[in-house]
Amino acid sequence: MMISPAADPVTTEVIGLLRSHKRAPAMGALAMELNISKPRLLRALEALKELGYVIAVDHDQRLVLTSTPDRMTDIEILAGLKTRSFGRHLHCYRRIGSTNATAIDLAEHGAPEGTVVVAEEQTKGRGRLGRHWHSPAGMGIWSSIILRPPVIPAQAAGLSLLAALAFAETAETEFGLEVMLKWPNDGLIKGRKVCGVLVELSAEVDRVHYAVCGVGINVAHGVKDFPSALRKSAGSLAMATGAPVERLAFYRAFLQRFEMIYRRFRQEGLSPLLADYRRRSLLLGNKVVVRQGRLKIAGVAVAIDDSGGLVIKHGKKETIVHSGEATLR
Ligand code: BTN
Repeated sequence: MMISPAADPVTTEVIGLLRSHKRAPAMGALAMELNISKPRLLRALEALKELGYVIAVDHDQRLVLTSTPDRMTDIEILAGLKTRSFGRHLHCYRRIGSTNATAIDLAEHGAPEGTVVVAEEQTKGRGRLGRHWHSPAGMGIWSSIILRPPVIPAQAAGLSLLAALAFAETAETEFGLEVMLKWPNDGLIKGRKVCGVLVELSAEVDRVHYAVCGVGINVAHGVKDFPSALRKSAGSLAMATGAPVERLAFYRAFLQRFEMIYRRFRQEGLSPLLADYRRRSLLLGNKVVVRQGRLKIAGVAVAIDDSGGLVIKHGKKETIVHSGEATLR
């Protein structure tokens, strides 16, 4: 089910007005100002209350917005979002199978670059390599962005590195955390995976139609909120900071950061952005194993080349891998 207060223009106007006034007019005056009936205004206020807005009435009967919900709704995401295209078309869901699956559907129907699908909860969250991605309600940022970069499929692989880099830079800027990136696109804090990226492509051999860049960020989980199999390896922003984290503010900052990085990628390609990625690499200089299906490549991770591939040295030989599951040995 979609959650879109912005779909109702009256609700959007009411919340806009409440936000911009410390003390908004009293009910009757507000209805007149908006040129709507009082029952219509009451319906909008009721809808906002249901979404978690707290609206008080002061001693002069004026309306005062005392708190806004940390919910991934279009109105809240757009409030203060400073992007050109990322999130300018927004599809917000309370519960959905997978934001990637929905974004693919939208992309197939021509949704423009920057279209975002976001959900409070995913019931069939997709992870890399066919895995499930645990996406419980209200705990994280489960979101997909449609991109239409003018590149060939091999170049689009870099997008997943860049999404992980955007996460790292956002977590560092917002909270001063140290983020390590495990090639290709896991974001780890204090050794625990907090962010995962799944890029799904539609392409011809020499042209990408679209890329759906799905990003999962664990925000509010405590250890016990993860399934037992993940309790040793997964983490969240709240665990890393030791305090509650507001999803909305982080998400807006992430979208802004990712758009900036992506624009540079479109103009200059991947290579100038890789220095920032390499600096945070967990694998470089270490012994690793990369599994690609049944194939195992073991050696020392010596470089990330300009196409984003991981260079593994074993004996005198070097192998460059562009996909797979890497672990430290
Ligand atoms: C990984 O395995 O590390 C990648 C996880 C990607 C999860 C995100 S959550 C939002 C988007 N929708 C999905 O179904 N998956 C991605």
